[in-house]
Amino acid sequence: MGSHSEPHSASLAPPLWQQLQACATALQAVLQGRNHAQALSLVDLRLRPAAQALLFAVLRQWGRTLALKKRLVQRQPSAPANALLCTGLALLVPNEQPMYPSHTLVSQLVEAAKRDPATKEQAAFVNACVRRFLREQDALMLQTDVLPSAQWNMPQWWIDRVRQDHPAHWQTILHASQQAAPMTVRVNQRLISRQALLAQWEEAGVRADVIGEHGLVLHQAKPVQTIPGFAQGWWSVQDGGAQWAAPLLLKGLKPRDGQPLRLLDACAAPGGKTAHLLECADAEVTALDVDAARCQRMADNLKRLQLKAEVVVADAAKPPTWWDGRVFDGILLDAPCTASGIVRRHPDIPWLRRASDVAGLAAQQKALLHALWPLLAPGGRLLYCTCSVFASEGRDQIQAFLANNNQARLLPSAGPFLPGVTANEETVTDNHARDHDGFFYALLERRPDA
Ligand SMILES: C[S@@+](CC[C@H](N)C(=O)[O-])C[C@H]1O[C@@H](n2cnc3c(N)ncnc32)[C@H](O)[C@@H]1O
Repeated sequence: MGSHSEPHSASLAPPLWQQLQACATALQAVLQGRNHAQALSLVDLRLRPAAQALLFAVLRQWGRTLALKKRLVQRQPSAPANALLCTGLALLVPNEQPMYPSHTLVSQLVEAAKRDPATKEQAAFVNACVRRFLREQDALMLQTDVLPSAQWNMPQWWIDRVRQDHPAHWQTILHASQQAAPMTVRVNQRLISRQALLAQWEEAGVRADVIGEHGLVLHQAKPVQTIPGFAQGWWSVQDGGAQWAAPLLLKGLKPRDGQPLRLLDACAAPGGKTAHLLECADAEVTALDVDAARCQRMADNLKRLQLKAEVVVADAAKPPTWWDGRVFDGILLDAPCTASGIVRRHPDIPWLRRASDVAGLAAQQKALLHALWPLLAPGGRLLYCTCSVFASEGRDQIQAFLANNNQARLLPSAGPFLPGVTANEETVTDNHARDHDGFFYALLERRPDA
């Protein structure tokens, strides 16, 4: 694991063999195409934090694990045995901060196999494979080192794309993407000051550093309910890179004719950036999302934070179906994307995406940008953002838009944020040791006379 630990309560931890079984259950679901949250929902609630910590560690070694398994196993075992074997191999890969000693892992892995009817028959096979790995470890590591996908633990197409888009920083980005992310929160300044919250946390033994205008980075991640002020709406979990959106859009926007600012958050759920906008400004916010279940989560989040927006379930790319014809002073388009910038928090993403997904998402982003632009008032601003490090979802998208639109002017904005990269420190002065996700921002102004 990296320098940050993910929420995981060790004191009441169930036996390791049970945790390994739970991790393998979730891994099997990821291998069938589910994301990590869906996969972990299949695991008993009591085992979930431990299963998540193990699953993330396994996924951060996934390229290596696939390469090792290919050399150790001739015939693919059953899906449950395969998931357990891969869990074991990934956790046995030599690592600066091993989670468990290898002899403990091997004995608990075999125990896990024996205790599940679905893997019982293959316990000896799992045992033989992991012991052979330990015996031949040096040679196997050397053989697999030559494969970029094993070295970087990313699919080859992903490595190629990051390398092509960021020739100077691709290794730093890939390396940072494999580390565990810190737990970063945004203070709800409507309800409490950052100083007052820090003082309350200090008393409760929660240590944190400030980041940006409204953020705090915890020294140690913890489940949200165990940290003072979550239920009261004093803070929300949000990465430091994401906390740039609301200030970037709001800076320079002025209410017209004494009316409150009219803002549209076009892809808003689960409402992290909507809430930040409302915490910063007295604005009328329409928060739109095409996904009804995610809109419900957004409504719940806004309620907890004591904020109000008009939540609308609709397709932002089809304004005639939901727009009342009144222009917006500001539009936030946090477009659907590959999420290639948030792999630290979602290590399943590179393995769930296909290379062909990128073009499809870029086409959706383009359609959203074109559909929403006419809804902006002259002199208004649209902030386009994606949590991606791929140029086709950021720089290229905006260059193409500007090339075909003489009403739009690109204003300076922070970033792009690239995980682990210092290059933006001129614009991002409190880059907090580069400990943020990858984000692309482009702030576009509609010319006042347009
Ligand atoms: C990156 S997430 C938004 C995260 C959110 N802005 C936040 O800060 O919490 C992208 C969202 O876009 C939504 N979405 C995708 N296509 C859409 C469309 N055509 N219209 C509206 N929402 C869409 C997805 O359901 C998803 O919730």
